[in-house]
Amino acid sequence: MTSKISIIGAGNVGATSAHRIVEGGYADVVLLDIVEGLPQGKALDIQQSAPVINFKTTITGSNDYKDTAGSEVVIVTAGLFRKPGMTRDQLLAANAEIVSGVVKNVVKYSPDCIILMVSNPLDAMTYLAVKASQFPRKRVVGMSGVLDSARLSTFIASELKIPPEAISAWVLGAHGLNMVVIPRLSTVRGKPLTELLSQETIDKLVERTIHGGREIVDLLKMGSAFYAPSAGIAGMAESIVLDKKETLPCAALLDGEYGIKDSVIGVPLKLGRGGIEQIVEFELTAEEKKLLHGSAEGVKDLIKQMGFK
Ligand SMILES: NC(=O)c1ccc[n+]([C@@H]2O[C@H](COP(=O)([O-])OP(=O)(O)OC[C@H]3O[C@@H](n4cnc5c(N)ncnc54)[C@H](O)[C@@H]3O)[C@@H](O)[C@H]2O)c1
Repeated sequence: MTSKISIIGAGNVGATSAHRIVEGGYADVVLLDIVEGLPQGKALDIQQSAPVINFKTTITGSNDYKDTAGSEVVIVTAGLFRKPGMTRDQLLAANAEIVSGVVKNVVKYSPDCIILMVSNPLDAMTYLAVKASQFPRKRVVGMSGVLDSARLSTFIASELKIPPEAISAWVLGAHGLNMVVIPRLSTVRGKPLTELLSQETIDKLVERTIHGGREIVDLLKMGSAFYAPSAGIAGMAESIVLDKKETLPCAALLDGEYGIKDSVIGVPLKLGRGGIEQIVEFELTAEEKKLLHGSAEGVKDLIKQMGFK
C-alpha cells in the first residue's frame, strides 16, 4: 500500500522534496502552501513528469489542511529562509509564529503522524513542534545532520578524489555555527579520516562544513540550499514509511541521552515507522561531549527566547 506524506511549504525545499518523494514511488504526496495556486501549479507540473519518469504515485497541491488528513508523515518546510549575512538563529521569531500555526493544523488533521521538521532555526523549531503538537518526542524529528554529514562527505570525497559512497561521516549537535563535526568517527572504507588526512586539511574541511549553508546562500543571493536538503528529507521520509530503521544523524528532543535534557540537537537515530525508534549513543571523548553539551546549551538559549521556562 502506498503511504501518504504531506509537505507544508511549497517553496524551494518543499517542492524539491515532493519531487524526490513522489518519484521514489513509495508515497503519494500532498503539497500545501498559504499562497494560492503555488502548490497546485507545482504539483501539476511534477505529476505531468510521471509518464516520462514512469512513477505511479500521485501529487496534489492544496491550500486546505483537510487534504492532508491521515498523513503518515508531515514535513514542515514553511517559513523564511536566511539572506546573505544572516544566521539561521535570526529567523527565530518569524518562523516560530509560522511553525506554531502550521503544527496546530497538522495535529488536527493527522493526529497520528510523524512530524519531520525542516524550517530554521532547525533545533529550536523541532523543540517548538514537540511542545505545540504535544506528541511523544519519538514522533517529532528534525532534518539537520543528514545534510551536514553529506556536506562533509562531499568535501572529503573531493579532497581524496574517491566516490562519496566510500565515506561514512558524522556531524552531530545543533544545525548552526556550533554543530559538532567528529572527524574521529568519520571513516573512508572503515579507516578513520584522522589516518588519511593531515590535521590542517581536516580543519579546513570541518570549517567548510560548518559554513556549508552560508557558502550557498552567498552564491545564490536570492535563496538558500534546497537540492541537498531535499535529499536528506527524502532519505529520512523513506526510512520512516518503509520502516528501514536506518541510523541517521537527525535532531531529537533529548531526555538524558548524552547527559543532555530538555534540549534538541542532532544525534544518531534509528528511524522507522514509529518515528525515532532508538537514540544511538556513540562513545564520545570528553572533548567531544563538551562540544555536544555546548551545542545543546546554545539551543536552550533559543528555546528560552521563544518563551519556554
Ligand atoms: N533544516 C535544514 O537543513 C534546512 C535546509 C534548507 C532550508 N531550511 C529551511 O527551510 C525553510 C524553507 O526554505 P525554502 O528555501 O523552501 O524557502 P521558500 O521561501 O522557498 O519556501 C517557503 C514556503 O513557505 C510558505 N509559507 C510561509 N508561511 C506559511 C504558512 N503559514 N503555511 C504554509 N506555508 C507557508 C511560503 O509561501 C513559501 O512558499 C526555511 O526556514 C529554511 O531556512 C532548512
